[in-house]
Amino acid sequence: MFQRLPNLIRKPISFSFEGQEIEALEGDTLASALLAAGVSTLRDAPVSGTARAPYCMIGVCFECSVEIDGISHQQACLIPVRQDMNVRRQQAEKEAGDALGG
Ligand code: FES
Repeated sequence: MFQRLPNLIRKPISFSFEGQEIEALEGDTLASALLAAGVSTLRDAPVSGTARAPYCMIGVCFECSVEIDGISHQQACLIPVRQDMNVRRQQAEKEAGDALGG
């Protein structure tokens, strides 16, 4: 579904998603890098637990919410990918616990 345009000048970098190394290009947003790598599920819905994927790609829907370097609820579509960042899916249980203060 997602394909990259030919890269003429951007530097390749890598980061971790759920413990798996993902290749990206400098200047990618985290969401676009994950989609280009074939990863579409970035979080679970807090009520139903269903898998959710980036939708708007402009910071409106929060469907791309992830945990980055231990900080939860980061919008992957707004954050430029960095070398060696550690990214995890936003877990529904964690969202519910955070909302309740624990
Ligand atoms: S995809 Fe909608 S806020 Fe990121």
